[in-house]
Amino acid sequence: MEYDKKLADRFTRFKLEFPYFKLMDAALERAVREVVANRTVLDLGCGSGHLTRMLKRWGAAEVTGVDISEPMLELAECREAEDRLGIKYLQSSIQELGRIGEFDIITGGCLLTYAANTADLSEMIRNIALNAKKGTRYFGQEHSGIYRRYEKAVLRKYNIEIEILQCCKEYLDASFTAHFSLGDIQFRNMVFERNYLSSVLEKHGFSNIKWHPLQLPENADMSGEFRGWEDIGNDSINEILDCVYTG
Ligand SMILES: C[S@@+](CC[C@H](N)C(=O)[O-])C[C@H]1O[C@@H](n2cnc3c(N)ncnc32)[C@H](O)[C@@H]1O
Repeated sequence: MEYDKKLADRFTRFKLEFPYFKLMDAALERAVREVVANRTVLDLGCGSGHLTRMLKRWGAAEVTGVDISEPMLELAECREAEDRLGIKYLQSSIQELGRIGEFDIITGGCLLTYAANTADLSEMIRNIALNAKKGTRYFGQEHSGIYRRYEKAVLRKYNIEIEILQCCKEYLDASFTAHFSLGDIQFRNMVFERNYLSSVLEKHGFSNIKWHPLQLPENADMSGEFRGWEDIGNDSINEILDCVYTG
C-alpha cells in the first residue's frame, strides 16, 4: 500500500488521536523505554516520524528513520525542521536497505505487515539482521493473528473492522478499517502467524522471542475513550514483538 500525501496526513493524525493506536504506541513505549537511553536506534518504516521522534525524546543517543514513502518522509522532515531533534531520515525500502550501520536497538512500527508475501518477509528480516550486532534488540508492533478466532463484534468495540481476503497456514491477507471521528482509514495488512514469524526471525539469527500484549495505561479514562476495553490484553489483535539478535 502506497502512502500518497493525503493518506500520509490522515495517518499522521490517526496516530495521535485514534484510541487503539494510542494503546499500540503505549505498549511499544513500555517495552522500549527502559532500554533506549543513550543507545543508537534504527526506526524502520518510520513514516512521518511519530515513533522516531518519541525514541529520541525517550533518551536515545542517535536515531535514524528509514521509509519507502516520500510523502511520509516529507512530513517527518517538516516536523524535524519545526522542532529539531537531530534525527536522520533515509528513503529506502527495507528489503533493499543493506547495511547502513550497526545499531543497539531496531524498531518497526507496524512494518512487517507490509511484506507482500513470505519471501518478502524473509528479505525484510534479513535486512534488519544486517544492521544488528550481537545483543541488538528488535521491537515491532505486530498483528498477532489472534483474530482468526474473533467475532467481528469484539473488534467493533475498538472501532476496527477486519475482512479476511485470503487465509493460509503462514498468514492472513486482510483488509483493516479503523472508524473514527476523523473519517475512516483503511489498510491492507499481511498478518503472519506468530510461530511462522518466529521461525523466520530465528532463521536470520534472532532469539529470545517474546510477545507483549496491549494494556490499558494505569490512568486510563475508563468512562471515556477506553470504555468497555478492560479485556484488551486478551483480545487485542496487536502485540509487541521483542527479540534479540544473537547471530
Ligand atoms: C503503518 S505506517 C507506520 C509508520 C510509523 N512506524 C508509525 O508508527 O507512525 C507503515 C510505514 O511503513 C512504510 N513501509 C511500508 N512498506 C515498506 C517497505 N517495504 N520499506 C520501507 N518502508 C515501508 C510505509 O511507507 C509507512 O510509512
